[in-house]
Amino acid sequence: MAITYYKRFRMEIDLDGSSATATLPPRFAWVAWEESLIDQHAEVKYLSFRGEIDACVFPCLGDRHGCQRLMREIRRKPGFLPQATWLIASPDCYCGTVQGVMDRGPIGAIQNVGVVPAYRGLGLGRALVRKALEGFYQAGLRRAYLEVTAENSGAVLLYRAVGFRRAKTLYKAVDG
Ligand SMILES: CC(C)(COP(=O)(O)OP(=O)(O)OC[C@H]1O[C@@H](n2cnc3c(N)ncnc32)[C@H](O)[C@@H]1OP(=O)(O)O)[C@@H](O)C(=O)NCCC(=O)NCCS
Repeated sequence: MAITYYKRFRMEIDLDGSSATATLPPRFAWVAWEESLIDQHAEVKYLSFRGEIDACVFPCLGDRHGCQRLMREIRRKPGFLPQATWLIASPDCYCGTVQGVMDRGPIGAIQNVGVVPAYRGLGLGRALVRKALEGFYQAGLRRAYLEVTAENSGAVLLYRAVGFRRAKTLYKAVDG
């Protein structure tokens, strides 16, 4: 079976508490983590990632049940950080999600940032990243990282705009 190698960047940022606050456009609201919201996080993740490049790199992201499994795995991680895990609500639906965990280091790790297609370009992705960084800072962390597929240029630009810098290039092998 053919193997495809996807170029990925690890990007990092220092946290000094001075980064811009995570503000939302009018009519959008932050929804803090609660156990009962696990399936809503999974659904927004699925609606955000299906058909996108990361659903090729991580096929579970393009599958509703895969996203439910992934959310449960993230929730079970010992370093899961509720204060870095948020939904955005519009008047009609949940439309954005981010989860954060504390990795060895300690360092904050942004897991998945997703905004459903109809709500993109409004600044919600940027706000989600900043909100997770605020959560890391409040949890005592002073550095954070994420990994992004190089082809996902919109996401790379977003992370650069927030202040992340490329620390390492990685290759993810995917079967098929
Ligand atoms: C990446 C994603 C979260 C961006 O969400 P968004 O709400 O549209 O992003 P924002 O409106 O906050 O954009 C903030 C900045 O990011 C950059 N950006 C975001 N999407 C972009 C795109 N498609 N093309 C170019 N730049 C983009 C721009 O610099 C933008 O600033 P500007 O509006 O002042 O030009 C969204 O496209 C998404 O969910 N994609 C699918 C899932 C995914 O790939 N997530 C990232 C995994 S690492």
